[in-house]
Amino acid sequence: MGRKFFVGGNWKCNGTTAEVKKIVITLNEAEVPSEDVVEVVVSPPFVFLTLVKSLLRSDFHVAAQNCWVRKGGAFTGEVSAEMLVNLAIPWVIIGHSERRLILNESNEFVGDKVAYALSQGLKVVACVGETLEQRESGSTVAVVSAQTKAIADKVLSWENIVLAYEPVWAIGTGKVASPAQAQEVHFELRKWLHDNVGAEVAASTRIIYGGSVNGANCTELATQPDVDGFLVGGASLKPEFIDVIKSAT
Ligand code: G3H
Repeated sequence: MGRKFFVGGNWKCNGTTAEVKKIVITLNEAEVPSEDVVEVVVSPPFVFLTLVKSLLRSDFHVAAQNCWVRKGGAFTGEVSAEMLVNLAIPWVIIGHSERRLILNESNEFVGDKVAYALSQGLKVVACVGETLEQRESGSTVAVVSAQTKAIADKVLSWENIVLAYEPVWAIGTGKVASPAQAQEVHFELRKWLHDNVGAEVAASTRIIYGGSVNGANCTELATQPDVDGFLVGGASLKPEFIDVIKSAT
């Protein structure tokens, strides 16, 4: 089964109304490969989700950057999966390293969040990745395997999950993983899925790379056999995001 290329734009905690509208205009005017070739999902901050959804071209979709771990209620400051569904937001990013590291989200908490979001009908970009210290100590595969296992332990199906490998040392640093480094970890993640979840899930689950992806380095990364797309941070706020989308061809 072919894996459709996936390009996500994570806008993180950036933007004013005017800036967000400007990005959407750029996206709407872009000539990019068709939806049959590439799935494009942009992820503005919560407060801009409905604005972006209302203005964005219909072949691109939106994602929230997080959601609460269970049904909404007395959880001040949180946004529930039910609310995202109510607003017809189809995707959510869960387990980004900025939330794992700064907000202390554990592997188990991330697994619970992924499972709950899926149970409500959301599609999930689930993020894994090692720190520089972990890479230098040779534990990259062990770290991303444990993060993936915590998700696999909680979910009933991988059909609506895109797995994003984002090495922490590459995020926002300009130090992109080499195509060989990305391929090596993506291969190991797919092998982990094969050995622990099943051959069909391993073959069909998209594993995307994130960490200093830009218009200049995306084409070579995209040629790697187990790289099925990208989760782009900084460059997704700029016109070069269009070049990353075009790397799908
Ligand atoms: O979610 C996106 C990643 O954190 C990558 O961010 O492209 O700015 O390195 P970056």
